Formats: sequence, structure tokens, C-alpha cells
Amino acid sequence: MTSVAHLLADIADIGRDPRGGYSRPVYSIAELDLRAWFVGEATSRGLDVTTDRNGIIWAWWGRPRDGAVVTGSHLDSVPGGGAFDGPLGVASALDAIDVLRARGLSPDAPGARGLAVAVFPEEEGSRFGVACLGSRLLTGAIDPDRARNLTDTDGVTFAEASTAAGLDPAHVGRDPEALARIGTFLELHVEQGRGLGAIPDGPAIAVATSILGHGRWRLTIRGQGNHAGATLMADRHDPMVTAARVILAVREAAAAQPDARATVGRIVPVPGGTNVIASRVDMWLDVRHPDDDVTAATVTRISEAARAAGAAEGCEVDVVEESLSPTTHMDPALRRRLSDLLPGTEQLATGAGHDAGVLAAHVPSGMLFVRNPSGISHAPEEYVSDDDAARGTLALADALAGLGGVALAGAANGRDA
Ligand code: GLV
Ligand code: MN
Ligand code: MN
Repeated sequence: MTSVAHLLADIADIGRDPRGGYSRPVYSIAELDLRAWFVGEATSRGLDVTTDRNGIIWAWWGRPRDGAVVTGSHLDSVPGGGAFDGPLGVASALDAIDVLRARGLSPDAPGARGLAVAVFPEEEGSRFGVACLGSRLLTGAIDPDRARNLTDTDGVTFAEASTAAGLDPAHVGRDPEALARIGTFLELHVEQGRGLGAIPDGPAIAVATSILGHGRWRLTIRGQGNHAGATLMADRHDPMVTAARVILAVREAAAAQPDARATVGRIVPVPGGTNVIASRVDMWLDVRHPDDDVTAATVTRISEAARAAGAAEGCEVDVVEESLSPTTHMDPALRRRLSDLLPGTEQLATGAGHDAGVLAAHVPSGMLFVRNPSGISHAPEEYVSDDDAARGTLALADALAGLGGVALAGAANGRDA
């Protein structure tokens, strides 16, 4: 087993979902266990670990300083997610530090920019609804009061969950000092589509070109709760019927628009009973397209269809935007540099969202993807072979060294990055 595989094996039992895969929502017992695991691994490597006021864990190899090369990812997951989305980037970062150290490189050597690993909370937005919440808070992309008041499905606020996790939510928000520490951000991530796996005998690693623009909307459909037996079909105002029509409208709107993706992955009838006509349905819509205007037009089309379907059933429909991230084109100079440093790698656009996309508006940010032959993600079938994970570590180590995060500790060493 390679070192990354060993690291991932150590956490393989944390947050397993009995329905399949992993459910590791931010600040749940599982995610806190993973954070503790990371702190232990980083500390045992002599890294200097701190958690900042936005819940981001920083592990510095050597002296913390402005303009350093920072790598990292996240440890939270979607419900029933795979083993690699997030943890692969964190484990590879730790492993890359071992590789760089074994090569005689140091972040404190003359000419080195410094190196840190960052672990971002709530990248998936699966507990509080807003994806990349940690990096949004860090960069000021979300109002701190709004973040504090976000609630999970049990009505627990982000502020309450943060407090329960031992953090102080009073000071979440834009953190210029922490941001200034990042000179370049590089996130390694499992590839989440069919990009690399579909190239026979192709490369295992790709450099990201862009991150697809994406947003989330909450639809609330209000009808009349009633009795399943005593209410004649003609007398019903059933929001579940409207919801069914909305789901079909979502598929049709996306299918009519080349390159669009639109999903309803979560729907909650309220109060939810077999013999109860729901009084309300909450549903969440995820829409993505390279052109942000097309995303907006697709959501408008879906909203109009939803209101028409609601009117036909005597239901009211509200559509509220919960988050929106424009398409991000990764820093061109950094992309070129990464491709030069990692010959033979592919160039790949991603349809998934990442903290690197949020950070890209503030600092040069790049991503490396590791082949996932299943082509499946956000599901248990997500897969990276041990050999490809090891290739990922080496690519990350080469990139971190090539970007100047570390340099040769002693001229006598004579080895190259
Ligand atoms: C996160 O992985 C997302 O793309 O939603
Ligand atoms: Mn991810
Ligand atoms: Mn994900």
C-alpha cells in the first residue's frame, strides 16, 4: 500500500453511512474525528497547526509567512459520498510533505516561499446549504451574519454548530491576514467526471482549466395539508404534485440548453406522512453552466414553469437563491507553470465546485485532478487506485517544489526537486 492509501485507510471507518458511502457533514462527530486525525498526522510530522476564526485548519511546515504556497482540500462530505472527494487532497498534501522532506527540501531554506496545508470546513455545503463556506468566509464572499444564521435540517445554526465544535462564531468573516499568507493555492482532488478515465492508457493526472459556474436555489411550494382518504382528487392542492412537475421541468430546461446541468437532489415534504397530503414541499435546485447568463436564464425558465405548475394545482411557489459561483478560469500563468512542471498531464475543466474556485478571485489558484476510472463521484463508487494516488502525491510534491514552496535545505544535498 502506498502512503496515501495508508492515510486513507486510517480514516476508512469514520463516518460510514449504513446506506452506502460516507456521510461526514461539517462539525458532525465524523468530521470532527477527521479534523482530529489531520491535526494528529500534521503534528506528528512537526507541522505547526492552528485553527483560524473561520474554522480553517492551517498546518505550517516551517515558519508561517505571507505569500506562501498553500495546498489542501476538505474533509466534510456530501451524504453518502465517496472516500476521496476532499480527503484525497488532504492525505496527498501530508504525503507530499514526506516526499519533499525525503528529497532534502525545506520551506525555510533560502529562496523558499514557505508551505502550508489548509483544511476548509463545509466545502460541500451539505449541512448548511452554502458550498465552500470556509473559503467564502475567509475571502468575505458571504456576510458573517448570514453564515452564522444558516441552519441545518435540525434547525441548528452554523453559529451553534461552530460553538459545539469548540469554535467561536463571533469572529467569522473576512480574514485579510490569513488570505495574505496564501501566495499560491494548489488543490489536489479526485477527478469527478469521465475526463481522465475515458482516455485509454492516458495520463493519471490533469491540470484544471476551469470550474463550472454553479448555484443553488431553494424552492418552497405551499399547498393545503389534508387527509389522504377524505379529500377528493378534485379538491386537492397537493404541493407534491407540483414538485413532480417541477422536477420534470428542471430536466427539460437543462436538456434544452447545451452544456447545462440541473439537478433536484433533495426534496422534503412537510410534514411527511403516507396518509397525509403535504402542506408544503421544500426542494433544492442545483444549476450549472459555463456561461453565467445561461445559468440565470435556465433558473428563470424553471421558476416560471414551477409557478405555472403551482397555479394549476392551487399552490404557491417561492424561489430563493442560496448561493451562486461564477465560472472560474484558473490562473493562466499558474496553469502553464503546472503543465511545464508536470509533463504529460492532461488539461481538464471540472463540473464540480471547489474552494480553489472561491480563492481564485483573490490569489493565483490551481488544481490537480487524479484519475477516477469509475467516472462517478458524490457516490460510493468514486475510486482512485493506490498507484494513481501515489502518482498524485508525486505530482503535487513536484508542483509544490517547482512553485518555490520549498528549496534545497543544504547545497551539499545536490538533489533536485
Ligand atoms: C461539490 O463538490 C459540488 O460541486 O457541489
Ligand atoms: Mn471536493
Ligand atoms: Mn464534492
